[in-house]
Amino acid sequence: MSKRSNFSSKIGFVLAASGSAVGLGNIWRFPYLAARYGGGTFLLIYLILAVTFGFTLMTAEIALGRKTGLSAIGAFKSLDKRYSFVGVLAAIVPIIIFPYYSVIGGWVVKYFSVFITGGVNATAADDYFTSFIGGTFEPLGWFLLFMAVTAVIVLCGVEKGIEKVSKIMMPVLVVLTIIIAIYGLTLDGAMEGLAYYVKPHMSDVSVKTILAAMGQLFYSMSLAMGIMITYGSYMKKEDNLESSVRQIELFDTGIAFLAGLMIIPAVFAFSGGDRSALNAGPGLMFMTLPKVFASMKFGGVIGTIFFLLVFFAALTSAISLMETIVSIFRDKFHWGRRNACIFVAVLSLILGIPSSLGFGPLGFISWMGMSVLDIMDFVSNSVLMPIVAFFTCIFVGFIIKPKTLADEVKVTDGKFKAEKMFNVIIKWVAPIFLVLILGSSVANALGIFKI
Ligand code: PHE
Repeated sequence: MSKRSNFSSKIGFVLAASGSAVGLGNIWRFPYLAARYGGGTFLLIYLILAVTFGFTLMTAEIALGRKTGLSAIGAFKSLDKRYSFVGVLAAIVPIIIFPYYSVIGGWVVKYFSVFITGGVNATAADDYFTSFIGGTFEPLGWFLLFMAVTAVIVLCGVEKGIEKVSKIMMPVLVVLTIIIAIYGLTLDGAMEGLAYYVKPHMSDVSVKTILAAMGQLFYSMSLAMGIMITYGSYMKKEDNLESSVRQIELFDTGIAFLAGLMIIPAVFAFSGGDRSALNAGPGLMFMTLPKVFASMKFGGVIGTIFFLLVFFAALTSAISLMETIVSIFRDKFHWGRRNACIFVAVLSLILGIPSSLGFGPLGFISWMGMSVLDIMDFVSNSVLMPIVAFFTCIFVGFIIKPKTLADEVKVTDGKFKAEKMFNVIIKWVAPIFLVLILGSSVANALGIFKI
């Protein structure tokens, strides 16, 4: 097999991993959850969880990858054969997510193209979004385009493709986000929304809020699907692992925070303080926001910039998903990058078609009220991810022991500042919480009880 490629620098690694973490989850899902679960309260809980749990799990995954130099399946297998199944489960997650993530990526490209050609008012019509996704060839075409762009970048490899693209796109994304957030805050009535978004109210703290924040954290940080293991395997031993994780975390949480700042006050201002406008869920970004853009001065320009940045965010995440799948097949079958890329692209296209058509021609397929795309999302995020994360914790905490990974963290300069916290969380706190998350999301979906 050819020598494993590497990220050429620590900043390259941090930006690529942040590129994976920062995605639709930050820009579309986080603001909507924050709006629904008490604004400032959700924000505070999320921040606390990010620096404790998020940190611990991300450190564990990156250290696993760097220590073994392998992607998920190989990493678990090489340390203990009995736990290969965790690697296999982790590998299934991106194979499920990548196709439908690219379907949504296609929607984003479509919106960008409509905005840049001056179509802001058209997108604000009530049934614009539903009639678009209800089509057959149009959503398929945009899906294909998004997938093709992703595949070309992954084909170029780690250093020339992924690292280069991330180094340019991530800083641009930050700047664009800040510009829109500042503009949104200048709108009449935005301050009320700002207060709701940043002020915690202790009376809002509930188990539900904590579980929602926790679920969002895993998704947002791209944990429990082998991505960080794969990226860790490309990381050099001279680069400090602990501080890299802190930086990725800061990036991911920072962008999520800014996304809320872009969206919540603007929607508040638009709806005259009516919070129900924020409860649009999946429709928030594609249905409510276009109305907000259509109603504001320079809305066409701001909307164009907005969808461009969402596109960047979605693209860098899709790249990480595809790269992870490619590296799994390469490790397993010793394929060259090119063949693996072609195979994965074709496979994912086929797998994505039902998700793309699930709102139109295949609309009759539904399971517990969910469309094909929602089912994929549910199975991967609410079922498989907590299971993988749970076994990862058990594996690290009790089989290979936290010390094995702590030693990997210390390779660079002998230090691991948060080692004690890492040990306690990975062995005890995280497994308990993960069982709760899994139980609650399954029970919720099955309608056994609603929390
Ligand atoms: N972390 C990404 C986000 O916040 C989502 C993602 C999930 C990316 C799975 C890669 C893999 O949108």
